[in-house]
Amino acid sequence: MKASTDFVPFALPSIGKEEEDAVLEVMRSGWLTTGKVALAFESEFASFVGSPFALAVNSATSGLHLALEALGVGQGDLVATSPYTFTSSAAVARHLGAEIRFCDISEDDYNIDPESLEALLSREKRIKALVLVHVGGFPCRVAEILAIARRHACAVVEDAAHAFPSRLPEGTVGTLGDIGVYSFYATKTITTGEGGMVVTADEGLRKRMALMRLHGFDREAWDRYTSKEASWLYGVAEAGYKYNLPDILAAIGREQLKKARLFLCERKAIAARYLSAFASLDAVQSPPTHPAHAWHLFSLRVNAESLGFGRDEFVVRLKEKGIGSSVHFIPLHIMRYWAERYGLKPESFPRAFEKFTRTLSLPIWHGMSKAQVERVVEAVLDISAPRGS
Ligand SMILES: Cc1ncc(COP(=O)(O)O)c(C=O)c1O
Repeated sequence: MKASTDFVPFALPSIGKEEEDAVLEVMRSGWLTTGKVALAFESEFASFVGSPFALAVNSATSGLHLALEALGVGQGDLVATSPYTFTSSAAVARHLGAEIRFCDISEDDYNIDPESLEALLSREKRIKALVLVHVGGFPCRVAEILAIARRHACAVVEDAAHAFPSRLPEGTVGTLGDIGVYSFYATKTITTGEGGMVVTADEGLRKRMALMRLHGFDREAWDRYTSKEASWLYGVAEAGYKYNLPDILAAIGREQLKKARLFLCERKAIAARYLSAFASLDAVQSPPTHPAHAWHLFSLRVNAESLGFGRDEFVVRLKEKGIGSSVHFIPLHIMRYWAERYGLKPESFPRAFEKFTRTLSLPIWHGMSKAQVERVVEAVLDISAPRGS
C-alpha cells in the first residue's frame, strides 16, 4: 500500500483552507505589510497567553534581540544561557556587544540546571540577563529559576520558541519572566512560515521594543496611512531595526492560533503512543514527561551500549526505513564560533555534550496519520530489537 512506504517527514506544517483564505483576503485588501491584521493577531495572542502586551515580529531571533536591547544589555555586559539550544538564543547578546556565559543542563531533562545557574550567577556578578530556553516544549523549573535570578538582579527572557502553548499553574510559559519570545518558524507548534511574538507585562519594555521593532519610528507605518493626520509625517527617535511581521503572515498566524489547542492535543496523543510503545525498551529511552509539555520535540535517547551502535547509525537506519528525524541540539559549546570565542571543549558542559551524543528527535506533528505514527513506532522497535533476535 502506497501510504505505508511514503517517507514520513520529521516535520510538516499544518496549513488548511482557513489560512489560504485569510492570506488571499490580505493580498486583495491592498495592504500587505504590518497593519490591522498584525494588530489583531497581537491582541488575540496576548489574550490567549494571558499577557497584557504582545508584539508581532518577523522571527523569534528578532524578538530575542529586541528583548535584550530593551533590558539594556550592551557592550561589556554578560548574558547567561544554556549551550543546549539554537545559536540565536545566544547570538543576539553578541549583536549587542555583550558576552555569553553558558550554564550546563540538568541531569533529568534538557533545560538549564538551577543549581549550576546559582553557582554561575554567584561567580559572575556582571550577568545582566538570562535567556531561559524551554527545550522541546518541556517547561523549565521556572519558579525556582526566577527566584535565583531575582536574588542576583538578573533579568529573565524566556525563549519559548518551542513551548507554545504550554501552561503551568502559575501561567502560560513565556509570560512568567520579564519578557517572553515565541517562534512561528515553519517547524514550530504554530507557524507563519517565519515569524514570532514577544510578550511582556511591563509597559516600558513594550514601548522600547515597539520603537526598536520598526526603524525607531515614533509612529507605526499603518498608523501613518490610516490616521487622519498627514501620512508623510513621522519622526525617528532611535536607530531601530526592521523586525515587523507583515499582515500576510499575521493572517496565517491568526488562523493557526485558533487551532493551537487542537494541535497540542494531537502532539500529546502521538507522544503518549511513543511513550507506551517504547516503555520496555533497553536500547532507547523516552524523554521525561511533564503535564505542561508542549511536545514540540519527542527526544529519544539511544543507549549505544545495549544497542551496539550509536545515535548517528540510528538516524541512518530510520532514514532507510523511510522515517525522517533530526537532532536537537548540537550544543553551542562545540560549535566553532562559540568554542573558539570562549575556549570551550566538549567536556566544558558534560551533561549537554553527553545528551547530544545520544539524542535524536522523532516526527511529532499535527496531521500525522495513525499509520504514519505506527510506521515510526515499528521502525524504532525494529531498530531497537535485541541483537540476534
Ligand atoms: C530554542 C530556539 N530559540 C530561538 C529560535 C529562533 O527562532 P526563529 O527561527 O523564529 O528566529 C529557535 C529556532 O529554531 C530555537 O529552536
